[in-house]
Amino acid sequence: MLQSALRHGLIGLLLITPALAAPTAEQRGKAFARANCARCHAIDRVSKSPLGTAPPLRSLHRRYPIDSLGEALAEGIYTGHDDMPAFELSPGQIHDLLSYLKTLE
Ligand code: HEC
Repeated sequence: MLQSALRHGLIGLLLITPALAAPTAEQRGKAFARANCARCHAIDRVSKSPLGTAPPLRSLHRRYPIDSLGEALAEGIYTGHDDMPAFELSPGQIHDLLSYLKTLE
Protein backbone atom coordinates (compact mmCIF):
# COMPACT_ATOMS: atom_id res chain seq x y z
CA MET A 1 0.00 0.00 0.00
CA LEU A 2 2.59 2.46 1.16
CA GLN A 3 4.95 1.11 -1.42
CA SER A 4 2.54 1.64 -4.24
CA ALA A 5 1.77 5.16 -3.05
CA LEU A 6 5.46 5.87 -3.02
CA ARG A 7 5.86 4.43 -6.45
CA HIS A 8 3.06 6.54 -7.82
CA GLY A 9 4.48 9.60 -6.13
CA LEU A 10 7.84 8.89 -7.65
CA ILE A 11 6.45 8.40 -11.12
CA GLY A 12 4.49 11.62 -10.80
CA LEU A 13 7.63 13.40 -9.79
CA LEU A 14 9.58 11.98 -12.68
CA LEU A 15 6.89 13.14 -15.04
CA ILE A 16 6.78 16.73 -13.87
CA THR A 17 10.46 17.29 -13.10
CA PRO A 18 11.68 17.68 -16.69
CA ALA A 19 8.95 20.23 -17.35
CA LEU A 20 10.10 22.25 -14.36
CA ALA A 21 13.80 21.80 -14.80
CA ALA A 22 14.09 22.42 -18.50
CA PRO A 23 12.47 25.57 -19.81
CA THR A 24 12.00 25.58 -23.56
CA ALA A 25 14.15 27.70 -25.85
CA GLU A 26 11.25 30.14 -26.19
CA GLN A 27 11.02 30.53 -22.42
CA ARG A 28 14.75 31.05 -22.05
CA GLY A 29 14.72 33.56 -24.90
CA LYS A 30 11.87 35.46 -23.33
CA ALA A 31 13.67 35.58 -20.00
CA PHE A 32 16.79 36.80 -21.77
CA ALA A 33 14.85 39.50 -23.61
CA ARG A 34 13.14 40.54 -20.41
CA ALA A 35 16.47 40.87 -18.65
CA ASN A 36 18.42 42.54 -21.45
CA CYS A 37 16.13 44.21 -23.94
CA ALA A 38 12.88 45.02 -22.15
CA ARG A 39 13.96 48.26 -20.55
CA CYS A 40 13.96 49.79 -24.05
CA HIS A 41 12.10 47.42 -26.38
CA ALA A 42 8.60 46.08 -25.96
CA ILE A 43 9.13 42.32 -25.85
CA ASP A 44 5.54 41.10 -25.99
CA ARG A 45 2.80 41.23 -28.59
CA VAL A 46 0.98 44.34 -27.51
CA SER A 47 2.81 46.91 -25.43
CA LYS A 48 4.69 50.01 -26.53
CA SER A 49 8.45 50.18 -26.16
CA PRO A 50 9.50 51.92 -22.94
CA LEU A 51 12.01 53.84 -25.06
CA GLY A 52 10.04 55.43 -27.88
CA THR A 53 12.82 55.12 -30.47
CA ALA A 54 13.37 51.39 -29.89
CA PRO A 55 11.25 49.23 -32.20
CA PRO A 56 9.14 46.59 -30.41
CA LEU A 57 10.92 43.25 -30.81
CA ARG A 58 7.79 41.82 -32.43
CA SER A 59 8.26 44.22 -35.36
CA LEU A 60 11.86 43.24 -36.09
CA HIS A 61 10.90 40.40 -38.41
CA ARG A 62 9.29 42.90 -40.73
CA ARG A 63 12.65 44.58 -41.21
CA TYR A 64 14.88 41.51 -40.99
CA PRO A 65 14.30 37.85 -41.63
CA ILE A 66 14.66 36.50 -38.09
CA ASP A 67 17.39 34.11 -39.17
CA SER A 68 19.54 36.93 -40.48
CA LEU A 69 19.18 38.62 -37.12
CA GLY A 70 21.10 35.68 -35.70
CA GLU A 71 24.19 36.73 -37.60
CA ALA A 72 23.89 40.31 -36.43
CA LEU A 73 23.49 39.11 -32.87
CA ALA A 74 26.51 36.84 -33.12
CA GLU A 75 28.69 39.65 -34.38
CA GLY A 76 27.38 41.93 -31.71
CA ILE A 77 24.44 44.06 -32.59
CA TYR A 78 25.65 47.54 -33.06
CA THR A 79 23.39 50.05 -34.62
CA GLY A 80 25.71 53.00 -34.24
CA HIS A 81 23.03 54.47 -32.04
CA ASP A 82 24.08 55.70 -28.63
CA ASP A 83 20.86 54.53 -27.09
CA MET A 84 21.44 50.94 -28.04
CA PRO A 85 24.29 49.22 -26.23
CA ALA A 86 26.39 46.71 -28.22
CA PHE A 87 25.52 43.12 -27.35
CA GLU A 88 27.39 39.96 -28.02
CA LEU A 89 25.41 36.83 -27.51
CA SER A 90 26.52 33.24 -27.30
CA PRO A 91 25.13 30.85 -29.94
CA GLY A 92 22.86 29.32 -27.29
CA GLN A 93 21.47 32.67 -26.27
CA ILE A 94 20.88 33.58 -29.90
CA HIS A 95 19.05 30.35 -30.56
CA ASP A 96 16.84 30.98 -27.53
CA LEU A 97 16.15 34.59 -28.41
CA LEU A 98 15.32 33.81 -32.04
CA SER A 99 13.01 31.01 -30.95
CA TYR A 100 11.20 33.51 -28.79
CA LEU A 101 11.07 36.17 -31.52
CA LYS A 102 9.50 33.64 -33.87
CA THR A 103 6.64 33.18 -31.43
CA LEU A 104 5.84 36.90 -31.84
CA GLU A 105 5.52 36.87 -35.61
C1 HEC B 1 19.29 51.03 -23.80
C2 HEC B 1 18.16 50.75 -24.67
C3 HEC B 1 18.20 49.48 -25.51
C4 HEC B 1 18.43 48.18 -25.10
C5 HEC B 1 18.73 47.69 -23.69
C6 HEC B 1 18.29 47.35 -26.27
N1 HEC B 1 18.00 48.12 -27.36
FE1 HEC B 1 17.76 47.45 -29.27
N2 HEC B 1 17.48 49.37 -29.90
C7 HEC B 1 17.43 50.48 -29.09
C8 HEC B 1 17.14 51.66 -29.91
C9 HEC B 1 16.98 53.08 -29.40
C10 HEC B 1 17.02 51.18 -31.24
C11 HEC B 1 16.75 51.99 -32.51
C12 HEC B 1 18.09 52.38 -33.06
C13 HEC B 1 17.98 53.09 -34.35
O1 HEC B 1 16.92 53.05 -35.00
O2 HEC B 1 18.99 53.68 -34.73
C14 HEC B 1 17.25 49.74 -31.20
C15 HEC B 1 17.24 48.92 -32.32
C16 HEC B 1 17.35 47.55 -32.29
C17 HEC B 1 17.33 46.71 -33.47
C18 HEC B 1 17.14 47.18 -34.89
C19 HEC B 1 18.44 47.62 -35.44
C20 HEC B 1 18.24 48.25 -36.78
O3 HEC B 1 19.26 48.43 -37.44
O4 HEC B 1 17.10 48.54 -37.18
C21 HEC B 1 17.48 45.43 -33.04
C22 HEC B 1 17.54 44.17 -33.89
C23 HEC B 1 17.58 45.48 -31.60
N3 HEC B 1 17.52 46.79 -31.17
C24 HEC B 1 17.71 44.37 -30.80
C25 HEC B 1 17.90 44.42 -29.43
C26 HEC B 1 18.02 43.25 -28.60
C27 HEC B 1 17.94 41.81 -29.10
C28 HEC B 1 18.21 43.69 -27.33
C29 HEC B 1 18.46 42.84 -26.09
C30 HEC B 1 19.54 41.89 -26.18
C31 HEC B 1 18.22 45.15 -27.36
N4 HEC B 1 17.99 45.55 -28.65
C32 HEC B 1 18.41 45.96 -26.25
C33 HEC B 1 17.63 50.52 -27.72
C34 HEC B 1 17.93 49.42 -26.94
